[in-house]
Order: sequence, then structure tokens, then C-alpha cells
Amino acid sequence: MSIISSFFSLFKIPSINELKKGDIPNHVGIIMDGNGRWASKRKLPRVLGHKAGVEALRRVIKLTSKLGIKYLTVFSFSSENWDRPKEEVEYLMGLFVDCLSSELPLLNKKGVKIKMIGKKEGIPKKVLKSFENAENKTCKNKEMVFNIAFNYGSRQEIIEAVKKIFKAIGEGNLKLEEVDQNSFSKFLYTKDCPDPDLIIRTSGEYRISNFLLWQGAYTEFYFSKVFWPDFNEKHYLRAIFDYQKRNRRFGKL
Ligand code: FPP
Repeated sequence: MSIISSFFSLFKIPSINELKKGDIPNHVGIIMDGNGRWASKRKLPRVLGHKAGVEALRRVIKLTSKLGIKYLTVFSFSSENWDRPKEEVEYLMGLFVDCLSSELPLLNKKGVKIKMIGKKEGIPKKVLKSFENAENKTCKNKEMVFNIAFNYGSRQEIIEAVKKIFKAIGEGNLKLEEVDQNSFSKFLYTKDCPDPDLIIRTSGEYRISNFLLWQGAYTEFYFSKVFWPDFNEKHYLRAIFDYQKRNRRFGKL
């Protein structure tokens, strides 16, 4: 590729047909950031940014399914987010409960299986019930897995895994010699998922923020400047196009 065409490809927005069919990521993770700033920029209450964020998520789920991506994991509420103002947390909880029921027909139609990943303790009963209901109603779907990281923190997930391993060893269900990277992964919330190939973070922040730390060891990262509610199909295709230009070596030559 010449220098000029490489330069222009930096700004290219590809169509679906221009993506390499054999190199579509299997698992995409997304840190949906910038809802609050999107709203503040429009002099709206922050919570309306979250509401608009749901629209962006709907667009992304539809395109994920259309592209044949098998796993999508979104960071929707971290274990630290409880410290936000009470009104914002309450609004978000209501939004989760509403969305988890209103989006079920679309998710079922697309064959999407929902899975909550995060610590169950400490989640308000009504919200936990909504997650469990969504998981039960979609558990037979086979087209795509949609992991919702909720009350999630990766360090906590790793500590919990270590405790479960100690317990399994203590109960004689696991031998110390059997603990390796592969068996360790089976004690994480994401035990049934492959590691993410691509993690996208929106809003111009360049951090991982305690998201999939173990799982992301060899993940490609893509940072978009747009606030999450503005993230659309073009931005998503651009991220995948960029991913397809990476040379993944997994530590080898
Ligand atoms: C981060 O933006 C976004 C969140 C903490 C919430 C994201 C949640 C949704 C979009 C709802 C998803 C719904 C389901 C059912 C999965 P921020 O508030 O940190 O933005 P800021 O950095 O601009 O303040």
C-alpha cells in the first residue's frame, strides 16, 4: 500500500462489503463512555445521556448480529458506579429494568442470548430479577451472546476466581498442579466465552477502567472520540476496519 493510500485509509468509512469476511472479530467488548458529557453538551440532565445511550446500544447490537460477531460484551455499570449521585443511580436502575424487558422481543428475534457478568451480591432485588428473567427467556438462543457487565469490576472478578480455586482445591475437586491459564479462566464470569478480539472505548478516554483485565491480555484496542450516544454504524464499521489492519502476533514473531 502506498503512503498516500495508507493515509486516506486512516479516515475511510468502509461499507459492510469492504470488510474482510474471514477476519470479523469473534468477540467485541465495548466501554460505552460519554453519556453524561453528551447530555451536558446539550444542556440536558445527565440521565438523558443514558437514555440516548440505549439507542446507540440498539444500533450496535443490530450491526453485531448482522456482521455475524458471536460475542458482544458491554460495560454497563461498574462496581464503582454506585458512588454516583443517588438520582442518577436510581434512574439507571429503572432504565436497566425497562430495557431488559422492552428489548427482549428484538433480542429473541435476533437469536441473542443475554448473560449478566458481575457480582450478584448488592444488586437491588428488582434489577437482579430483571437480569435473571432476561437470561431465562433467552437461554436457548444460539446466534450471539450478549454479555452485560453489571456491578462488574475485573479485579474483583479475579479475586473471586482465586477464592473459588482455593475452595475447589480444599474440597478436593481441583489439584494445585491443574491450575493454569486455561483452568483459571473457567473460574471467571466469562467462563463460557472466548477472550475479546477487539475492545472499543468511546468518548476520547484512553483507559481500560477495570474491564476484562485478564481476558484482554491480547485484545486489540480501538478508541473513538465520539460520545457513546453518538456512536453509530459508521463508527462501528470503522473500528472493525481498523482492527482488520492490525497484525496480531500474540507475543510471537
Ligand atoms: C458511561 O457514561 C455510561 C454508563 C455508566 C451507563 C451505560 C448504560 C447504558 C447505555 C444502558 C445500557 C442498558 C442495558 C440494558 C445494557 P458516563 O455517564 O460515565 O459518561 P461521562 O463520562 O460523560 O460522565
